[in-house]
Amino acid sequence: MNTKLTYVTTFPGILDAYFDYSLPGKAVSKGHISYQTVNLRDYTKDLHRTTDDTPFGGGPGMVMKLDPIVKAIQDCRQPNSLVILPTPKGKLLTQEVVHHLSAYDHLVFLCGHYEGIDDRVFQYIDMPISIGDYVLGGGEISSIVITDAVIRFVKGVLGNQESTQKESFEDKQRLEYPNFTRPSAYDKTSIPEILLSGHHKKIEEWRKLESLRWTLLLKPELIQPSSLSKNDIQRLKRIRAEMNHSIDTLLKNHE
Ligand code: 6GU
Repeated sequence: MNTKLTYVTTFPGILDAYFDYSLPGKAVSKGHISYQTVNLRDYTKDLHRTTDDTPFGGGPGMVMKLDPIVKAIQDCRQPNSLVILPTPKGKLLTQEVVHHLSAYDHLVFLCGHYEGIDDRVFQYIDMPISIGDYVLGGGEISSIVITDAVIRFVKGVLGNQESTQKESFEDKQRLEYPNFTRPSAYDKTSIPEILLSGHHKKIEEWRKLESLRWTLLLKPELIQPSSLSKNDIQRLKRIRAEMNHSIDTLLKNHE
């Protein structure tokens, strides 16, 4: 299935640059996805093609006008479209949201600029999405962030179909195990011996252990007690014993 992506923007070049390279570039040239930019200025009626105006009530900055945006949305919308507004006021983008978005045939991104958009815009869109608690200058970059996460789920985009499964957050909300490539010895570094053993079963077990260990250390809140398998419990006991051993060694001369 081909996923269609539409960007309503005053800076189409930002999107063109993104779709020119790498994974998104290949996804377009192979026909797995298609994209179009819609220039908001084409929906203005005045000589200067104005997309913004001063805020009612006064104050600094400019506000994007409602009419060109509503007309552009009306023009883009198809029965199966989801119209997204990237905004710090939106629902936080998580891998679960990404997965949900990837089920749509057509995503429309409304890229805002300036101080913001006339707040009545929320009556015309389907989903406000935030990519984190900070403010960006425009919606193009956040639209690209959302797009980059979504297209990985479109059939055919990733060469290796396994890739979305094994990665961080997908596998029962665990971080990915560490990966290494040649050379095995570099400068003063080395890599875990097990990975050179060719012992696939042991390597698989090592990866599960390390995935659990690093999630516990870096993102413990991701691990739900109810998600733990019997094997995970054994792995946790092993991690605990190793940690206790390390701490005991450090404290040996202090107690
Ligand atoms: Cl999705 N867009 C913009 N413009 N700024 C943001 C954001 C999105 N998420 C956080 N800040």
